Amino acid sequence: MNTPACPSAVNRRSWLAALAGSAVLPGATAATPRPEITLRFSHVVAEETPKGLAANRFKVLVEQRSGGRISVQVYPNAQLYGDHDEMQALQLGAVDLVAPSLSKFGRIGLPEFELFDLPFLFDDLNAVRHITLGPLGRKLLQGLPRQGLVGLGFFDNGFKQMSANRPLLEPRDFAGLRMRVQASRVIAAQMRALGAKPVTLAFSETRRALAAGVVDGTENPVSNFWTQAMHEVQSDLSLTEHGYLGYAVVTNQRFWQHLQPDDRALIDQALQESLAFANQIADAQNDRALQALREAGTTRVHRLGADQRARLRQAVQPVQQQLASRIAPHWMSDLKQAMRKA
Ligand code: SIN
Repeated sequence: MNTPACPSAVNRRSWLAALAGSAVLPGATAATPRPEITLRFSHVVAEETPKGLAANRFKVLVEQRSGGRISVQVYPNAQLYGDHDEMQALQLGAVDLVAPSLSKFGRIGLPEFELFDLPFLFDDLNAVRHITLGPLGRKLLQGLPRQGLVGLGFFDNGFKQMSANRPLLEPRDFAGLRMRVQASRVIAAQMRALGAKPVTLAFSETRRALAAGVVDGTENPVSNFWTQAMHEVQSDLSLTEHGYLGYAVVTNQRFWQHLQPDDRALIDQALQESLAFANQIADAQNDRALQALREAGTTRVHRLGADQRARLRQAVQPVQQQLASRIAPHWMSDLKQAMRKA
């Protein structure tokens, strides 16, 4: 899908609204009822990312289809809660929806979600969707009620790239670098396997930590890199495409069960459509961000040769065994079986 280019800051609001589909939403009028239900959706990234755009579209669809009876308040950019506390806030009912990256479920006792962090596991997004939309994806979501949560679906950002103040093309380039990672033991192991030192930091703290030299580099899809203005503090972006970043939308089980069945169906339908929308635009958002980054001219962009990628892949081989030793054995065999069918 083609999304319109981001115009000047003045028109940014209407640009975001158009992307979210709110051009068709009638504005608040005297006839708009007061909302009976307000959903609070908290996330940590910018509005111009696949997740930000999906959350905004979800708001539009729910408010439109419920005639304003159900309202959605979206809190982007960790305005309300960040990586450290959003899951807890959801469990306590302080927010109703969050969409953490799959890398952040290990810390709430679901390390099997770190399967998605295994480096060089997926060749493309179709291979990912084979997992997320298939039986293994459903089985992963079925673990969430153990934590008082309900998993409503998965969606993509895309493939991660490596950044630092030098090119990262070979394992030796990582030696001694302090690399910011999400709270995933698989990603930490990946960085160690490459000879770097992983430093776990919340997403919202990453740019500042890079600017201050607390960490030397990081990994993320380009849409996150660009919208956090990390290009201003990193001179080199290496297009390693070494790992996947995706999300699960999660709600509080008590909250979900207390909704009227019709409302639950309306919300779920709007959400599934918003996730499909995010999957449609994710690639384009990352391409668009890369284009903008090139035009900004602050950061050199490096493409890896096949042999360089193969050497990185070889260096991170031990990571799979490390994860296998931490999770129930059936997860690895389920994964292999699902990948064979892909
Ligand atoms: C996100 O996309 O939600 C944040 C990813 C990160 O923490 O690197």
